[in-house]
Amino acid sequence: MAKTRLACLLTLLSTHCYVSVLAVVLKTSNDSPWTDEFDKIELSCLIESISTTNPRIEWKKITSEGPSYVYYDKKISGALENRAVIREPATLLITNATRSDTAKYRCEVTAAYDQKSFDEIVIDLVVRVKPVVPKCSVPKSVPFGKSAELSCMEDEGFPKSQYQWFKNREEIPDDPKTSIRFLNSSYTLNAETGTLMFIAVRKEDAGDYFCRAKNDAGHAECPPQNMEVYDIDVVGIVLGVLVVVVVLLCITAGICCAYKRGFFSSQKQTGNNYKVPAKGDGVDYVRTEDEGDFRHKSSFVI
Ligand SMILES: *[C@@H]1O[C@H](CO)[C@@H](O)[C@H](O)[C@H]1NC(C)=O
Ligand SMILES: *[C@@H]1O[C@H](CO)[C@@H](O)[C@H](O)[C@H]1NC(C)=O
Repeated sequence: MAKTRLACLLTLLSTHCYVSVLAVVLKTSNDSPWTDEFDKIELSCLIESISTTNPRIEWKKITSEGPSYVYYDKKISGALENRAVIREPATLLITNATRSDTAKYRCEVTAAYDQKSFDEIVIDLVVRVKPVVPKCSVPKSVPFGKSAELSCMEDEGFPKSQYQWFKNREEIPDDPKTSIRFLNSSYTLNAETGTLMFIAVRKEDAGDYFCRAKNDAGHAECPPQNMEVYDIDVVGIVLGVLVVVVVLLCITAGICCAYKRGFFSSQKQTGNNYKVPAKGDGVDYVRTEDEGDFRHKSSFVI
């Protein structure tokens, strides 16, 4: 029994060996590598078995427009020229990755003297790009109880940025219910779009707001901007309106009176005006006369 099994095993092994000797087989240490922009990255293509001594090695970049050559006839070509080298036997080393290198790459090896003479392997490369400073919009002044929308946006980051908002340097939680400090606030926060939306602002929502765009490659923030919440003071407004109405009424009444007087007795009034000082003069004259009398009398007494 044991001997038969051993024989079987040996047969299997030898068959396997025989097949692998006559086939080209590729493998990779990482089929979905990533790097940050302007860093280096290795697209590993390892030859696990081959019997042909001088195989043909090619790399193609596969984008939506179809495949294009990256390595052909022992030369790097296309956009990667001067930015990539081949490390034996078939690994592609990009020395300074750019955002446009994000794509699928196919390593193809043709071994003419192997029974299975062709193998290929696809590597999915992601070049991550740091976000730039986002554009933020914070309303300067919002009436109490009204809605307010704060927005934050940047387009460079890859993968796409997620957004965080901060109020007075403290991060605003996704859900106000999870924090005692923001418990009564009426906002909703969308980390994907960067929108912080208040349904009805409270006095406590006033403060300095800034937003951070972040992804795996890094983050960037806009400078803080102040949002003020002001009261629509109903009593104040009613009083203000009343004061204005009263002032208008007074002015109107004044103008009316002036008109009436001016219309009915403009000449009589001037006559009166002349008479008044005349009367006064008379009184003064009488007084001085009286005084004279008095003086006269007093001097008489002295
Ligand atoms: C990589 O490329 C960028 C832009 O082409 C360049 O500014 C940078 O200096 C390069 N970095 C290295 C290490 O060569
Ligand atoms: C939230 O509102 C409740 C009820 O109006 C009040 O008792 C509580 O103090 C408020 N909390 C904060 C943090 O403003």
